[in-house]
Amino acid sequence: MAKEGISRIDLGEKDPRTAYHWLTRTVAPRPIAWVSTKSPRGKLNLAPFSYFNAGGANPPSLVFSCTYTREGKPKDTLRNVRETGEFVVNVVTREVVEAANLTSRAFEYEVSEFEEVGLTPAWDTAHVTVPRVAESPIAFECRVFAIVDHGNGPLSAHYVIGEVLAVHCDASLLDEEGMPDPAKIEHCARLGKSFYLRVREEELFELPRP
Ligand SMILES: Cc1cc2nc3c(=O)[nH]c(=O)nc-3n(C[C@H](O)[C@H](O)[C@H](O)COP(=O)(O)O)c2cc1C
Repeated sequence: MAKEGISRIDLGEKDPRTAYHWLTRTVAPRPIAWVSTKSPRGKLNLAPFSYFNAGGANPPSLVFSCTYTREGKPKDTLRNVRETGEFVVNVVTREVVEAANLTSRAFEYEVSEFEEVGLTPAWDTAHVTVPRVAESPIAFECRVFAIVDHGNGPLSAHYVIGEVLAVHCDASLLDEEGMPDPAKIEHCARLGKSFYLRVREEELFELPRP
């Protein structure tokens, strides 16, 4: 049944900042990818991205969008993935969300958020030369499959599609079959404004597939 009182806003005609607020307040909750990368000279970088999702399983892949800044410049993460072709996505849970937020500050290129925020690089990745974040319980080693540029002005989307080569998972989050247990991973998701959502076991419900 159609809802009464629905208003239409032609987002393409709005300024990017307004479009940003409409999208981020309505496309929600969004999981948060905490992306570690390395510059060609070997300096580590770390930043959170909530324009993030998985996209398929054969081969396994995921995507995040690293937008251009308000000044229309590429962010450090995008520079690094373009130049090196590899990255790690660390999952943001309740335990690490404050640290992830701190790494979103606009540090200079080649200033490491690992050092600035006091996080630990874990060098046990096998397929990429980038470390995961030791404090995060789940991480995906990824090789860049494609980067799709949609626009080139301030806040334009730059979709980084990664092929997932390996996943690391803390054993305490697995069920009796050795698979990740959604009730145990306290995912943290991003909503609009400065709101976040913490997934709690008591909020979960099941629906059988028709
Ligand atoms: C929770 C959270 C989610 C974010 N999501 C995105 C996003 O999806 N895309 C984006 O370009 N920036 C996003 N940001 C902002 C970036 O993290 C920020 O611009 C950061 O400085 C980029 O770092 P870099 O220059 O080291 O790549 C987000 C920030 C926070 C705190």
